[in-house]
Amino acid sequence: MTSFKDLNLIPELLQAVAEEGYTSPTPIQEKAIPLLLDGKDVLGCAQTGTGKTAAFTLPILQRLAAEPAIVGKREPRCLILAPTRELAQQIGDSVTAYGRRTAITGTTIYGGVSQGAQARAVRAGVDVLVATPGRLLDLMGQAIVPLNSVRYLVLDEADRMLDMGFLPDVLRIVRKVPLRRQTMLFSATLSREIVELAKELLHEPVRVDVAPSSTTVERVRQVVYHVSRNAKGPLLDRLVAMPDVERALVFTRTKRGANQVVERLNLGPIRADVMHADRGQSAREKSLESFKVGTTRVLVATDIASRGLDVDNITHVINFDVPDEPDAYVHRIGRTARAGAHGLAITLCDREEEGKLAAIEKAIRLKIPEGEMPGKAASGRAGGHAGAKAGAHTPAAPHGHAPAHAHAPVHAHAPAYPAPPAPDAAPARDERHGPGPAPLTASGEEPKKVGRLRQRHPRRR
Ligand SMILES: Nc1ncnc2c1ncn2[C@@H]1O[C@H](COP(=O)(O)OP(=O)(O)OP(=O)(O)O)[C@@H](O)[C@H]1O
Ligand SMILES: [Mg+2]
Repeated sequence: MTSFKDLNLIPELLQAVAEEGYTSPTPIQEKAIPLLLDGKDVLGCAQTGTGKTAAFTLPILQRLAAEPAIVGKREPRCLILAPTRELAQQIGDSVTAYGRRTAITGTTIYGGVSQGAQARAVRAGVDVLVATPGRLLDLMGQAIVPLNSVRYLVLDEADRMLDMGFLPDVLRIVRKVPLRRQTMLFSATLSREIVELAKELLHEPVRVDVAPSSTTVERVRQVVYHVSRNAKGPLLDRLVAMPDVERALVFTRTKRGANQVVERLNLGPIRADVMHADRGQSAREKSLESFKVGTTRVLVATDIASRGLDVDNITHVINFDVPDEPDAYVHRIGRTARAGAHGLAITLCDREEEGKLAAIEKAIRLKIPEGEMPGKAASGRAGGHAGAKAGAHTPAAPHGHAPAHAHAPVHAHAPAYPAPPAPDAAPARDERHGPGPAPLTASGEEPKKVGRLRQRHPRRR
Protein backbone atom coordinates (compact mmCIF):
# COMPACT_ATOMS: atom_id res chain seq x y z
CA MET A 1 0.00 0.00 0.00
CA THR A 2 1.29 3.46 -0.82
CA SER A 3 2.23 5.57 2.17
CA PHE A 4 2.48 9.32 2.45
CA LYS A 5 6.25 8.82 2.56
CA ASP A 6 6.12 7.16 -0.86
CA LEU A 7 4.55 10.38 -2.15
CA ASN A 8 7.77 12.19 -1.25
CA LEU A 9 6.20 14.60 1.17
CA ILE A 10 8.55 16.59 3.34
CA PRO A 11 8.92 15.59 7.01
CA GLU A 12 6.91 18.61 8.20
CA LEU A 13 3.90 17.44 6.21
CA LEU A 14 4.40 13.77 7.07
CA GLN A 15 4.30 14.74 10.71
CA ALA A 16 1.18 16.84 10.24
CA VAL A 17 -0.77 14.07 8.46
CA ALA A 18 0.31 11.62 11.15
CA GLU A 19 -0.98 14.04 13.76
CA GLU A 20 -4.28 14.17 11.88
CA GLY A 21 -4.44 10.40 12.30
CA TYR A 22 -4.05 9.58 8.61
CA THR A 23 -2.19 6.35 8.07
CA SER A 24 -2.22 6.16 4.28
CA PRO A 25 -3.26 8.41 1.42
CA THR A 26 -6.71 8.09 -0.10
CA PRO A 27 -6.92 7.23 -3.82
CA ILE A 28 -7.33 10.85 -4.90
CA GLN A 29 -4.37 11.85 -2.75
CA GLU A 30 -2.27 9.02 -4.14
CA LYS A 31 -3.02 10.07 -7.70
CA ALA A 32 -3.11 13.85 -7.45
CA ILE A 33 -0.28 14.62 -5.04
CA PRO A 34 2.60 13.43 -7.31
CA LEU A 35 1.16 15.32 -10.29
CA LEU A 36 0.73 18.49 -8.30
CA LEU A 37 4.20 18.21 -6.79
CA ASP A 38 5.39 17.93 -10.35
CA GLY A 39 3.77 21.26 -11.18
CA LYS A 40 0.94 19.93 -13.33
CA ASP A 41 -2.49 21.52 -13.59
CA VAL A 42 -5.05 19.03 -12.34
CA LEU A 43 -8.75 18.51 -12.76
CA GLY A 44 -9.64 16.08 -10.01
CA CYS A 45 -12.82 14.13 -9.49
CA ALA A 46 -13.36 11.84 -6.51
CA GLN A 47 -16.31 10.95 -4.35
CA THR A 48 -17.44 13.04 -1.40
CA GLY A 49 -15.49 12.63 1.81
CA THR A 50 -12.42 11.07 0.22
CA GLY A 51 -9.85 13.70 1.13
CA LYS A 52 -9.73 16.08 -1.82
CA THR A 53 -8.78 18.95 0.49
CA ALA A 54 -5.49 17.33 1.50
CA ALA A 55 -4.99 16.21 -2.11
CA PHE A 56 -4.52 19.82 -3.17
CA THR A 57 -3.37 21.43 0.08
CA LEU A 58 -0.41 19.16 0.85
CA PRO A 59 1.41 19.61 -2.48
CA ILE A 60 0.78 23.35 -2.44
CA LEU A 61 2.26 23.62 1.04
CA GLN A 62 5.23 21.56 -0.06
CA ARG A 63 5.86 23.70 -3.10
CA LEU A 64 5.49 26.90 -1.12
CA ALA A 65 7.86 25.59 1.52
CA ALA A 66 10.44 24.88 -1.19
CA GLU A 67 10.36 28.44 -2.54
CA PRO A 68 12.99 30.90 -1.40
CA ALA A 69 12.11 32.76 1.77
CA ILE A 70 10.18 35.95 1.08
CA VAL A 71 12.06 39.11 1.86
CA GLY A 72 9.79 41.90 2.99
CA LYS A 73 6.03 41.79 2.97
CA ARG A 74 4.26 38.58 2.03
CA GLU A 75 1.54 38.66 -0.55
CA PRO A 76 -0.73 35.66 -1.14
CA ARG A 77 1.03 33.07 -3.26
CA CYS A 78 -1.86 30.65 -3.20
CA LEU A 79 -5.55 31.41 -3.63
CA ILE A 80 -8.21 28.82 -2.82
CA LEU A 81 -11.78 29.70 -3.77
CA ALA A 82 -14.81 27.99 -2.24
CA PRO A 83 -18.54 28.58 -2.66
CA THR A 84 -19.70 29.03 0.94
CA ARG A 85 -18.38 30.78 4.00
CA GLU A 86 -18.41 27.70 6.18
CA LEU A 87 -16.56 25.68 3.59
CA ALA A 88 -13.95 28.44 3.20
CA GLN A 89 -13.47 28.42 6.97
CA GLN A 90 -13.11 24.65 6.97
CA ILE A 91 -10.52 24.71 4.19
CA GLY A 92 -8.69 27.48 6.04
CA ASP A 93 -8.62 25.24 9.13
CA SER A 94 -7.24 22.39 7.02
CA VAL A 95 -4.49 24.61 5.62
CA THR A 96 -3.57 25.54 9.18
CA ALA A 97 -3.66 21.92 10.32
CA TYR A 98 -1.65 20.47 7.44
CA GLY A 99 0.76 23.38 7.48
CA ARG A 100 1.28 23.59 11.20
CA ARG A 101 4.83 22.24 11.04
CA THR A 102 5.84 24.63 8.29
CA ALA A 103 6.36 28.38 8.39
CA ILE A 104 3.59 28.95 5.85
CA THR A 105 0.80 31.25 6.92
CA GLY A 106 -2.79 31.44 5.79
CA THR A 107 -5.97 33.36 6.35
CA THR A 108 -9.60 33.06 5.30
CA ILE A 109 -11.85 35.81 4.04
CA TYR A 110 -15.61 35.52 3.61
CA GLY A 111 -18.71 37.66 3.79
CA GLY A 112 -21.28 38.20 6.51
CA VAL A 113 -18.81 39.53 9.06
CA SER A 114 -17.00 42.84 9.24
CA GLN A 115 -14.00 43.02 6.99
CA GLY A 116 -11.63 44.74 9.44
CA ALA A 117 -9.91 41.71 10.91
CA GLN A 118 -9.70 40.00 7.54
CA ALA A 119 -8.15 43.07 5.93
CA ARG A 120 -5.63 43.37 8.74
CA ALA A 121 -4.68 39.70 8.39
CA VAL A 122 -4.08 40.09 4.67
CA ARG A 123 -2.13 43.31 5.14
CA ALA A 124 0.05 41.64 7.74
CA GLY A 125 1.12 39.24 4.99
CA VAL A 126 -0.03 35.71 4.21
CA ASP A 127 1.01 32.88 1.92
CA VAL A 128 -2.28 31.07 1.46
CA LEU A 129 -5.55 32.91 1.07
CA VAL A 130 -8.82 30.99 1.24
CA ALA A 131 -11.81 33.04 0.11
CA THR A 132 -15.39 33.15 -1.01
CA PRO A 133 -15.65 35.14 -4.24
CA GLY A 134 -17.94 37.95 -3.01
CA ARG A 135 -15.79 39.14 -0.12
CA LEU A 136 -12.61 38.67 -2.10
CA LEU A 137 -13.93 40.96 -4.84
CA ASP A 138 -14.89 43.53 -2.21
CA LEU A 139 -11.39 43.54 -0.78
CA MET A 140 -9.81 43.51 -4.22
CA GLY A 141 -11.92 46.54 -5.10
CA GLN A 142 -10.46 48.35 -2.10
CA ALA A 143 -6.94 47.35 -3.12
CA ILE A 144 -6.58 45.37 0.09
CA VAL A 145 -5.85 42.02 -1.54
CA PRO A 146 -3.16 41.90 -4.20
CA LEU A 147 -3.23 38.83 -6.41
CA ASN A 148 -0.11 39.49 -8.50
CA SER A 149 1.97 37.07 -6.48
CA VAL A 150 -0.48 34.17 -6.73
CA ARG A 151 1.16 31.10 -8.31
CA TYR A 152 -1.28 28.44 -7.12
CA LEU A 153 -4.98 28.70 -7.78
CA VAL A 154 -7.57 26.22 -6.52
CA LEU A 155 -11.26 26.08 -7.25
CA ASP A 156 -12.72 23.69 -4.73
CA GLU A 157 -16.22 22.50 -5.67
CA ALA A 158 -15.12 23.55 -9.14
CA ASP A 159 -18.39 22.82 -10.91
CA ARG A 160 -20.23 25.00 -8.43
CA MET A 161 -17.69 27.78 -8.84
CA LEU A 162 -18.08 27.66 -12.61
CA ASP A 163 -21.86 27.47 -12.74
CA MET A 164 -23.82 30.49 -13.79
CA GLY A 165 -24.31 31.77 -10.24
CA PHE A 166 -20.61 32.17 -9.56
CA LEU A 167 -18.94 32.24 -12.97
CA PRO A 168 -18.87 36.02 -13.49
CA ASP A 169 -17.34 36.63 -10.05
CA VAL A 170 -14.86 33.81 -10.45
CA LEU A 171 -13.77 35.10 -13.85
CA ARG A 172 -13.26 38.60 -12.51
CA ILE A 173 -10.98 37.13 -9.86
CA VAL A 174 -9.14 34.70 -12.13
CA ARG A 175 -8.32 37.45 -14.61
CA LYS A 176 -6.33 39.18 -11.87
CA VAL A 177 -4.28 36.08 -11.17
CA PRO A 178 -1.08 35.88 -13.22
CA LEU A 179 -1.20 33.35 -16.04
CA ARG A 180 2.03 31.81 -14.87
CA ARG A 181 0.43 29.69 -12.22
CA GLN A 182 -0.53 26.14 -11.32
CA THR A 183 -4.28 25.69 -11.35
CA MET A 184 -6.28 22.87 -9.79
CA LEU A 185 -9.96 22.16 -9.85
CA PHE A 186 -11.64 19.56 -7.65
CA SER A 187 -15.14 18.22 -7.15
CA ALA A 188 -17.15 15.04 -6.70
CA THR A 189 -19.24 16.08 -9.69
CA LEU A 190 -17.76 17.30 -12.94
CA SER A 191 -20.06 17.33 -15.93
CA ARG A 192 -18.75 17.37 -19.48
CA GLU A 193 -19.79 21.00 -19.90
CA ILE A 194 -17.96 22.09 -16.80
CA VAL A 195 -14.87 20.19 -17.87
CA GLU A 196 -14.91 22.01 -21.22
CA LEU A 197 -15.29 25.33 -19.48
CA ALA A 198 -12.65 24.47 -16.92
CA LYS A 199 -10.09 23.67 -19.57
CA GLU A 200 -9.92 27.35 -20.40
CA LEU A 201 -8.58 28.06 -16.95
CA LEU A 202 -6.07 25.25 -16.95
CA HIS A 203 -2.85 24.65 -18.84
CA GLU A 204 -2.48 21.15 -20.28
CA PRO A 205 -4.43 19.74 -17.35
CA VAL A 206 -4.17 16.18 -16.20
CA ARG A 207 -7.54 14.70 -15.45
CA VAL A 208 -7.61 12.57 -12.32
CA ASP A 209 -10.74 10.50 -11.87
CA VAL A 210 -11.01 8.17 -8.95
CA ALA A 211 -14.59 7.40 -9.91
CA PRO A 212 -16.89 8.68 -12.65
CA SER A 213 -18.49 12.02 -11.87
CA SER A 214 -21.48 11.81 -9.53
CA THR A 215 -20.55 8.42 -8.15
CA THR A 216 -21.95 8.12 -4.65
CA VAL A 217 -19.93 6.60 -1.85
CA GLU A 218 -20.65 2.89 -1.43
CA ARG A 219 -20.89 3.09 2.31
CA VAL A 220 -23.87 5.41 2.16
CA ARG A 221 -27.00 3.35 2.02
CA GLN A 222 -29.73 5.12 0.11
CA VAL A 223 -33.47 4.72 0.45
CA VAL A 224 -36.50 6.62 -0.78
CA TYR A 225 -39.98 6.98 0.68
CA HIS A 226 -42.76 7.69 -1.75
CA VAL A 227 -45.19 9.82 0.22
CA SER A 228 -47.62 12.66 -0.31
CA ARG A 229 -46.40 16.15 0.48
CA ASN A 230 -48.64 16.29 3.56
CA ALA A 231 -47.28 13.05 4.90
CA LYS A 232 -43.67 14.23 4.82
CA GLY A 233 -43.80 16.11 8.14
CA PRO A 234 -45.21 13.22 10.20
CA LEU A 235 -42.81 10.80 8.52
CA LEU A 236 -39.85 13.05 9.29
CA ASP A 237 -40.92 13.18 12.95
CA ARG A 238 -40.75 9.42 13.05
CA LEU A 239 -37.52 9.16 11.14
CA VAL A 240 -35.57 11.53 13.35
CA ALA A 241 -36.92 9.78 16.44
CA MET A 242 -35.27 6.50 15.39
CA PRO A 243 -32.75 5.55 18.05
CA ASP A 244 -29.88 5.17 15.63
CA VAL A 245 -30.20 8.75 14.40
CA GLU A 246 -27.28 10.23 16.24
CA ARG A 247 -26.74 13.21 14.01
CA ALA A 248 -29.05 14.01 11.11
CA LEU A 249 -28.80 16.67 8.45
CA VAL A 250 -32.15 17.45 6.84
CA PHE A 251 -32.19 19.30 3.52
CA THR A 252 -35.03 21.40 2.20
CA ARG A 253 -35.29 23.18 -1.11
CA THR A 254 -36.05 26.63 0.28
CA LYS A 255 -35.21 28.73 3.30
CA ARG A 256 -38.89 29.03 4.14
CA GLY A 257 -39.23 25.29 3.94
CA ALA A 258 -36.28 24.89 6.30
CA ASN A 259 -37.90 27.24 8.83
CA GLN A 260 -41.17 25.35 8.64
CA VAL A 261 -39.50 21.99 9.12
CA VAL A 262 -37.47 23.14 12.10
CA GLU A 263 -40.50 24.73 13.74
CA ARG A 264 -42.36 21.49 13.37
CA LEU A 265 -39.50 19.38 14.74
CA ASN A 266 -39.06 21.64 17.73
CA LEU A 267 -42.64 20.98 18.78
CA GLY A 268 -41.44 17.46 19.52
CA PRO A 269 -38.77 16.15 21.87
CA ILE A 270 -35.81 16.38 19.54
CA ARG A 271 -33.68 19.50 19.40
CA ALA A 272 -33.39 20.84 15.89
CA ASP A 273 -31.74 23.94 14.49
CA VAL A 274 -31.70 25.62 11.11
CA MET A 275 -29.01 26.94 8.78
CA HIS A 276 -29.68 28.95 5.64
CA ALA A 277 -28.53 32.08 3.90
CA ASP A 278 -31.08 34.41 5.51
CA ARG A 279 -29.62 33.80 8.94
CA GLY A 280 -26.83 36.06 10.17
CA GLN A 281 -23.33 34.71 9.89
CA SER A 282 -22.84 34.29 13.63
CA ALA A 283 -26.16 32.40 13.86
CA ARG A 284 -25.06 30.17 10.97
CA GLU A 285 -21.77 29.44 12.65
CA LYS A 286 -23.39 28.76 16.01
CA SER A 287 -25.87 26.35 14.44
CA LEU A 288 -23.11 24.45 12.69
CA GLU A 289 -20.97 24.37 15.82
CA SER A 290 -23.82 23.05 18.00
CA PHE A 291 -24.42 20.38 15.41
CA LYS A 292 -20.74 19.44 15.35
CA VAL A 293 -20.49 19.12 19.12
CA GLY A 294 -23.77 17.25 19.35
CA THR A 295 -25.88 19.78 21.25
CA THR A 296 -28.14 19.81 18.22
CA ARG A 297 -29.09 16.39 16.96
CA VAL A 298 -30.91 17.52 13.84
CA LEU A 299 -29.78 20.37 11.60
CA VAL A 300 -32.19 21.51 8.92
CA ALA A 301 -30.48 23.31 6.06
CA THR A 302 -30.73 24.46 2.49
CA ASP A 303 -28.10 23.58 -0.07
CA ILE A 304 -25.64 26.02 1.51
CA ALA A 305 -24.73 23.02 3.66
CA SER A 306 -24.61 20.53 0.82
CA ARG A 307 -21.08 21.04 -0.44
CA GLY A 308 -17.80 20.19 1.16
CA LEU A 309 -18.79 20.43 4.83
CA ASP A 310 -17.04 17.82 6.88
CA VAL A 311 -18.90 17.12 10.12
CA ASP A 312 -17.92 13.92 11.91
CA ASN A 313 -20.48 11.22 12.46
CA ILE A 314 -23.47 12.47 10.58
CA THR A 315 -25.38 9.20 10.66
CA HIS A 316 -28.28 10.32 8.49
CA VAL A 317 -28.93 12.72 5.66
CA ILE A 318 -32.61 13.25 4.99
CA ASN A 319 -33.82 14.98 1.85
CA PHE A 320 -37.13 16.44 2.94
CA ASP A 321 -37.39 17.68 -0.63
CA VAL A 322 -35.87 15.97 -3.63
CA PRO A 323 -33.15 18.30 -4.86
CA ASP A 324 -33.69 19.99 -8.20
CA GLU A 325 -30.39 18.80 -9.62
CA PRO A 326 -28.85 15.33 -9.45
CA ASP A 327 -25.46 16.69 -8.45
CA ALA A 328 -26.99 18.46 -5.45
CA TYR A 329 -28.20 15.03 -4.35
CA VAL A 330 -24.67 13.60 -4.62
CA HIS A 331 -23.23 16.41 -2.50
CA ARG A 332 -26.05 16.38 0.05
CA ILE A 333 -25.82 12.68 0.79
CA GLY A 334 -22.03 13.01 0.81
CA ARG A 335 -22.29 14.77 4.17
CA THR A 336 -22.57 11.30 5.66
CA ALA A 337 -20.31 8.27 5.21
CA ARG A 338 -17.14 10.33 5.10
CA ALA A 339 -13.59 9.11 5.54
CA GLY A 340 -14.57 5.45 5.70
CA ALA A 341 -17.65 5.85 7.92
CA HIS A 342 -21.10 4.50 7.07
CA GLY A 343 -24.31 6.43 6.74
CA LEU A 344 -27.89 6.36 5.59
CA ALA A 345 -29.41 8.77 3.07
CA ILE A 346 -33.18 9.02 3.07
CA THR A 347 -35.17 10.87 0.44
CA LEU A 348 -38.83 11.80 0.80
CA CYS A 349 -40.37 11.97 -2.63
CA ASP A 350 -43.88 13.13 -3.46
CA ARG A 351 -45.72 12.63 -6.70
CA GLU A 352 -44.51 15.88 -8.26
CA GLU A 353 -40.92 15.00 -7.48
CA GLU A 354 -40.84 11.63 -9.22
CA GLY A 355 -39.23 13.13 -12.32
CA LYS A 356 -36.42 14.65 -10.31
CA LEU A 357 -35.87 11.34 -8.55
CA ALA A 358 -35.63 9.54 -11.88
CA ALA A 359 -33.03 12.07 -13.05
CA ILE A 360 -31.01 11.47 -9.89
CA GLU A 361 -31.13 7.70 -10.30
CA LYS A 362 -29.98 8.06 -13.86
CA ALA A 363 -27.11 10.36 -12.91
CA ILE A 364 -25.86 8.18 -10.07
CA ARG A 365 -26.51 5.02 -12.11
CA LEU A 366 -28.33 3.43 -9.21
CA LYS A 367 -31.93 2.52 -8.49
CA ILE A 368 -32.68 3.80 -5.01
CA PRO A 369 -34.66 1.17 -3.08
CA GLU A 370 -37.75 2.01 -1.09
CA GLY A 371 -37.42 2.39 2.66
CA GLU A 372 -39.38 0.55 5.31
CA MET A 373 -41.84 2.63 7.24
CA PRO A 374 -40.21 3.37 10.59
CA GLY A 375 -41.59 2.03 13.85
CA LYS A 376 -45.16 1.49 12.82
CA ALA A 377 -47.31 -1.57 12.46
CA ALA A 378 -48.41 -2.47 8.97
CA SER A 379 -51.11 -0.03 8.17
CA GLY A 380 -50.73 0.77 4.54
CA ARG A 381 -49.01 3.77 3.12
CA ALA A 382 -47.77 6.84 4.86
CA GLY A 383 -50.59 8.85 3.46
CA GLY A 384 -48.86 8.48 0.21
CA HIS A 385 -49.20 7.28 -3.27
CA ALA A 386 -47.73 4.24 -4.83
CA GLY A 387 -44.92 2.42 -3.32
CA ALA A 388 -44.09 3.05 0.33
CA LYS A 389 -43.62 -0.27 2.01
CA ALA A 390 -45.68 -0.64 5.08
CA GLY A 391 -44.43 -2.93 7.77
CA ALA A 392 -43.49 -3.30 11.38
CA HIS A 393 -39.78 -3.24 10.73
CA THR A 394 -37.62 -1.02 12.72
CA PRO A 395 -35.95 1.44 10.49
CA ALA A 396 -32.74 0.78 8.77
CA ALA A 397 -29.63 1.22 10.80
CA PRO A 398 -26.80 3.06 9.13
CA HIS A 399 -24.24 0.38 9.70
CA GLY A 400 -25.59 -2.19 7.43
CA HIS A 401 -28.14 -3.83 9.73
CA ALA A 402 -30.82 -3.00 7.29
CA PRO A 403 -34.15 -4.67 7.24
CA ALA A 404 -34.81 -6.71 4.18
CA HIS A 405 -36.22 -4.67 1.39
CA ALA A 406 -38.77 -5.98 -0.92
CA HIS A 407 -37.06 -4.49 -3.88
CA ALA A 408 -33.54 -3.98 -5.01
CA PRO A 409 -30.73 -4.90 -2.68
CA VAL A 410 -29.71 -2.03 -0.50
CA HIS A 411 -26.69 -1.43 -2.61
CA ALA A 412 -27.76 -2.11 -6.08
CA HIS A 413 -24.51 -2.19 -7.94
CA ALA A 414 -26.03 -3.61 -11.02
CA PRO A 415 -28.32 -0.67 -11.47
CA ALA A 416 -31.10 -0.33 -13.91
CA TYR A 417 -28.96 2.14 -15.79
CA PRO A 418 -26.10 1.02 -17.92
CA ALA A 419 -22.66 2.58 -18.12
CA PRO A 420 -21.65 6.13 -17.61
CA PRO A 421 -22.81 8.78 -19.95
CA ALA A 422 -21.73 11.77 -17.89
CA PRO A 423 -24.81 13.51 -16.59
CA ASP A 424 -25.74 17.01 -17.60
CA ALA A 425 -25.06 18.57 -14.29
CA ALA A 426 -26.79 21.85 -13.78
CA PRO A 427 -26.05 24.25 -10.98
CA ALA A 428 -27.77 23.94 -7.68
CA ARG A 429 -29.58 26.97 -6.44
CA ASP A 430 -27.33 29.60 -5.08
CA GLU A 431 -28.63 31.47 -2.12
CA ARG A 432 -26.47 34.46 -2.74
CA HIS A 433 -27.63 34.90 -6.27
CA GLY A 434 -31.27 34.02 -5.82
CA PRO A 435 -32.99 31.25 -7.71
CA GLY A 436 -30.56 29.56 -10.01
CA PRO A 437 -30.43 30.76 -13.57
CA ALA A 438 -30.77 28.51 -16.55
CA PRO A 439 -28.70 25.41 -16.16
CA LEU A 440 -25.43 25.16 -17.97
CA THR A 441 -26.39 22.44 -20.39
CA ALA A 442 -25.08 21.44 -23.74
CA SER A 443 -27.79 23.52 -25.27
CA GLY A 444 -26.00 25.96 -27.48
CA GLU A 445 -25.62 28.53 -24.77
CA GLU A 446 -22.56 26.77 -23.48
CA PRO A 447 -20.19 27.13 -26.45
CA LYS A 448 -20.79 30.85 -26.42
CA LYS A 449 -19.67 31.03 -22.81
CA VAL A 450 -16.60 29.00 -23.52
CA GLY A 451 -15.76 31.23 -26.43
CA ARG A 452 -16.07 34.35 -24.38
CA LEU A 453 -13.97 32.89 -21.68
CA ARG A 454 -11.30 31.84 -24.14
CA GLN A 455 -11.16 35.27 -25.70
CA ARG A 456 -10.76 37.12 -22.48
CA HIS A 457 -8.61 34.60 -20.79
CA PRO A 458 -6.06 33.42 -23.32
CA ARG A 459 -3.95 30.39 -22.74
CA ARG A 460 -0.88 31.08 -20.77
CA ARG A 461 2.71 30.13 -21.50
N1 LIG B 1 -5.54 10.03 4.08
C1 LIG B 1 -6.55 10.16 4.93
N2 LIG B 1 -6.79 9.21 5.86
C2 LIG B 1 -7.82 9.36 6.72
N3 LIG B 1 -8.69 10.39 6.71
C3 LIG B 1 -8.50 11.35 5.82
C4 LIG B 1 -7.43 11.30 4.87
N4 LIG B 1 -7.49 12.38 4.09
C5 LIG B 1 -8.54 13.11 4.51
N5 LIG B 1 -9.15 12.50 5.55
C6 LIG B 1 -10.35 12.95 6.28
O1 LIG B 1 -11.46 12.68 5.44
C7 LIG B 1 -12.48 13.62 5.68
C8 LIG B 1 -12.99 14.14 4.34
O2 LIG B 1 -11.99 14.91 3.71
P1 LIG B 1 -12.36 16.12 2.73
O3 LIG B 1 -13.28 17.07 3.41
O4 LIG B 1 -11.10 16.63 2.18
O5 LIG B 1 -13.19 15.31 1.61
P2 LIG B 1 -13.62 15.80 0.16
O6 LIG B 1 -13.17 14.74 -0.77
O7 LIG B 1 -13.17 17.18 -0.07
O8 LIG B 1 -15.21 15.71 0.26
P3 LIG B 1 -16.34 16.67 -0.42
O9 LIG B 1 -16.50 16.21 -1.84
O10 LIG B 1 -17.57 16.39 0.39
O11 LIG B 1 -15.86 18.06 -0.31
C9 LIG B 1 -11.90 14.70 6.56
O12 LIG B 1 -12.39 14.52 7.87
C10 LIG B 1 -10.42 14.44 6.51
O13 LIG B 1 -9.80 14.79 7.73
MG1 LIG C 1 -14.09 18.96 -0.28
